[in-house]
Amino acid sequence: MTLAAGYLLLPGAPAPEDYLRLRRESGLSPKTTGQAEAAIAGSWAFRRVETERGEVVAMGRVVGDGGWYFLVADMATLPGHQRRGIGGAVLDALLEEIRTRAEPGAYVTLTADPPGRRLYESRGFLDVAPDRTGMWRMR
Ligand SMILES: CC(C)(COP(=O)(O)OP(=O)(O)OC[C@H]1O[C@@H](n2cnc3c(N)ncnc32)[C@H](O)[C@@H]1OP(=O)(O)O)[C@@H](O)C(=O)NCCC(=O)NCCS
Repeated sequence: MTLAAGYLLLPGAPAPEDYLRLRRESGLSPKTTGQAEAAIAGSWAFRRVETERGEVVAMGRVVGDGGWYFLVADMATLPGHQRRGIGGAVLDALLEEIRTRAEPGAYVTLTADPPGRRLYESRGFLDVAPDRTGMWRMR
């Protein structure tokens, strides 16, 4: 997907303070600076979108083993910039990096919150099978 005029899709993570701001302002749960730094250092792929003035307005990343298992995370576009194709462009770039850099047979997974569900469906993501359910816990 081509990005709307005035936006730049860039490889690499935002600065930790921008990562935290994007999460907060797009309605995702707040994280600490330590969590932001670890997320940035530990990701397999990262994309961010900036305006021509250098304001970071969107991001997305992939956590993965580089072999076959990949998790799309931290998809966030600031509310004032949503519904312009930015999230789709970030997702497309991340999926393209998996296609070109990972071993064949990569399994790509994510947890879809309601705002992202149709976007993910449009890129071919399917519900996990009816007899399988996503599970989680805090440590
Ligand atoms: C999910 C999220 C990242 C999507 O970001 P986005 O930049 O708005 O994504 P896009 O613009 O590519 O697509 C979103 C919608 O806008 C539509 N769209 C894309 N370009 C458009 C345009 N030029 N005009 C109007 N609509 C457009 C898409 O078709 C899509 O519609 P749909 O959801 O009805 O299918 C964003 O909504 C967000 O940050 N939400 C809050 C945080 C969150 O919940 N993140 C986790 C999601 S799992």
